[in-house]
Amino acid sequence: MENQQTIQPLFHVLKSQQFTRPLLDELYEITNKVRRLAKTKEGLDFLRTILSDKRGMLYFVQPSTRTFLSFLNACQILGIQTSEIRDTNTSSEVKGESIYDTIRTFCSYVDVVIMRYPKAGFVEEIAQVMDQTPRPVPFINGGSGPDQHPTQALLDIYTLRQSFKDLGGLENKTIMMVGDLKRGRTVRSLTYLMKHFKGVKLIFVAPKYLQMGDDIKTFCQDVNIPFIESEDMNGLLPEADAVYMTRIQDEYDLNGESKALDYSKFHITVDNLKLLKPASIIMHPFPRRFEINIEVDKDPRAMYWRQERNGMWTRVAILAKIFNVHNKILNM
Ligand code: NCD
Repeated sequence: MENQQTIQPLFHVLKSQQFTRPLLDELYEITNKVRRLAKTKEGLDFLRTILSDKRGMLYFVQPSTRTFLSFLNACQILGIQTSEIRDTNTSSEVKGESIYDTIRTFCSYVDVVIMRYPKAGFVEEIAQVMDQTPRPVPFINGGSGPDQHPTQALLDIYTLRQSFKDLGGLENKTIMMVGDLKRGRTVRSLTYLMKHFKGVKLIFVAPKYLQMGDDIKTFCQDVNIPFIESEDMNGLLPEADAVYMTRIQDEYDLNGESKALDYSKFHITVDNLKLLKPASIIMHPFPRRFEINIEVDKDPRAMYWRQERNGMWTRVAILAKIFNVHNKILNM
């Protein structure tokens, strides 16, 4: 590939803003190659050897199905041995150990820490603290409270690009984001990556109380991403090339305030599907509740199950790049 040497190495994966366009392109080239190799036993056997000398820790102390399992499977695909903590009640934190000592302990055993944590900014903070220790290891942010979920954004961009590959790519497309934009880390991380694609327009559809945060809107203004805010999903659906649905993040409610909201006009059913262009796609990071009626799954524009599977392949690419074995894959 062109300019292979000039693309930056990858150590921590902490937030979307750290990614450049060449790095995204490289990650997706690796992802495509991994998917091709994974079609045969020989290919999978090869992949399993390339990081069999590494160990990884999955520290996920906020609920997770897809991010946890897709990272676990991504590690297995590359031969990385894993250990896991999914509940602080099972770690020495209950004996009064500080989170710093707990995490430093992982770092002494493993070569990569993949972490989901309820506090915004924490994965970044702990990575910086551990960088000062004698054995720094890469940290991957698998979701840090309501602020960031960079690997989800990477797989979302991959899915968008794949979906639009015969339609001129992600450039010049209109992406509608619907739901809890205020506390949804997926839409926040995804918006940061949109700056790499010329001509992208964003439509933020949410009840007023759950509209996109000022920090993200300021970012869009600073990097010239045009956006509009609206509560009228149906009125704007005909303009969207992709509709990115999300659920209400009520785990961050202080007093059950989002329970009082009427969310029904932010749902996709077979009826309002008719408003959508024939080539549009519907995405969702999952878990879904009522935002997308299950009947919609039969529509060819429903991309969320493929999006979920893309997550595993993208995460294989991220791990391969972190350990600098991606060229072995690309050269296969
Ligand atoms: C999302 C998350 O955890 O932020 N899920 C995921 O990782 N695929 C979305 C959500 O919980 O609503």
